[in-house]
Amino acid sequence: MINFNKHVAIGIIGAGTMGTGIAQVAATFGHKVVIFDQQKEQLNHSHDNLTRIISRLVEKHKIEQSDGEDILSRISFTNSINELSSMGLIIEAIVEDLEVKKELFSQLEDLVNENCFLATNTSSLSISSIASACKIPQRVIGLHFFNPPPLMPLVEIVPSILTSNSVKEVLFNLMKEWGKVPVIAKDTPGFIVNKVARPFYGEALRIYEEGIADIPRIDYAMKRIGKFRMGPFELMDLIGNDVNYKVTETVFREFYYDQRYKPSITQKRYVEAGLFGRKTGKGFYEYTELQNVKHDDIEPDSKLDSMIFERIIVMLINEAADTLMYNIASKEDIDLAMLNGVNYPKGLLKWADELGLDFVASRLADLYDKYLEDRYRTSPIIAKMAKSNEKFYPHAKDI
Ligand SMILES: NC(=O)c1ccc[n+]([C@@H]2O[C@H](COP(=O)([O-])OP(=O)(O)OC[C@H]3O[C@@H](n4cnc5c(N)ncnc54)[C@H](O)[C@@H]3O)[C@@H](O)[C@H]2O)c1
Repeated sequence: MINFNKHVAIGIIGAGTMGTGIAQVAATFGHKVVIFDQQKEQLNHSHDNLTRIISRLVEKHKIEQSDGEDILSRISFTNSINELSSMGLIIEAIVEDLEVKKELFSQLEDLVNENCFLATNTSSLSISSIASACKIPQRVIGLHFFNPPPLMPLVEIVPSILTSNSVKEVLFNLMKEWGKVPVIAKDTPGFIVNKVARPFYGEALRIYEEGIADIPRIDYAMKRIGKFRMGPFELMDLIGNDVNYKVTETVFREFYYDQRYKPSITQKRYVEAGLFGRKTGKGFYEYTELQNVKHDDIEPDSKLDSMIFERIIVMLINEAADTLMYNIASKEDIDLAMLNGVNYPKGLLKWADELGLDFVASRLADLYDKYLEDRYRTSPIIAKMAKSNEKFYPHAKDI
């Protein structure tokens, strides 16, 4: 099997946030990188951003001046797609539109040699659909980086039903060499992270909508008891309510309107009102400057804080367990994904073991009994494990 090394040239398509970040990662590892974008301004912007980021890394003594110069010298910019003809791997990071991506992939195939791997950084589109535009769909794969790519370790590797095993394995090894944490996910809506994380936002919004607690209290409880770095509303403001709402809507639609992913009317109104979050200066919170939201003035309320935390965490665990049941990923990869893609303090299945599967099952049953909504149905895997007193990681060395 061929293995990629730093002599393989990497083509990046799309000089936006993700393309620029992925280019930095590849060039830091030693690859020659060519970034292609249709828009000259975007290429200039990407060039300026990379130069600024590398200078800052040098100033902060994170890298040597000469290494910084080498990284930049390996990256070139072009608005001619023909310059990608000799690449060994192309990673696409253009607009999230299936038809545009398919058109691009079909155009690429006429250009590159037959051994070139074609990867897409899509967060929500079907890899099988994108691959269907290609004559050699076996070489097409999802390579889903997280924002910002140089800082976030996770890469979800998403083979389509047509992708060859060797493409998956070569890219898995390459991501490891780049210092990333690769996980393998099935080509299903939201892959791992964008599916499993839905209840973090959805259940927090629901608690707020029901008037059980206000927004700062919910964020405070998740940080105080769950030790999450950010509360759900802070995180939605950071991601952008527009983006976060769209992801929920897509996952909801793609899972045939499973009530578990039902979007929130509250968040929809925030989007409609232009209250996107940090980028517009106002979302669930107001941002006068780019600083973290502080909850210093909130007093603990043990009963309420625990109730909020438990309701959200059991819904997250339920989602993680269902993801395992449907073989979307292994238990280890589900936990690695949430630790490295969204900085959760613990893997959710490990957390389930710590809380006890009987506790998780009984909290879920309480929610179901109260609301009689399909949203709160217990994953069969949790019900079974609770009954037989099982753990996801029965041996300490499994974790
Ligand atoms: N931003 C994120 O947090 C994030 C995280 C993971 C994955 N993604 C995915 O990565 C991809 C890119 O996202 P982004 O945030 O970097 O977008 P962006 O808007 O910052 O950049 C997209 C770039 O693609 C260029 N482009 C558009 N159509 C093109 C075409 N046909 N040919 C060449 N260039 C073209 C645009 O000029 C732009 O520079 C999307 O598929 C997105 O879903 C984004």
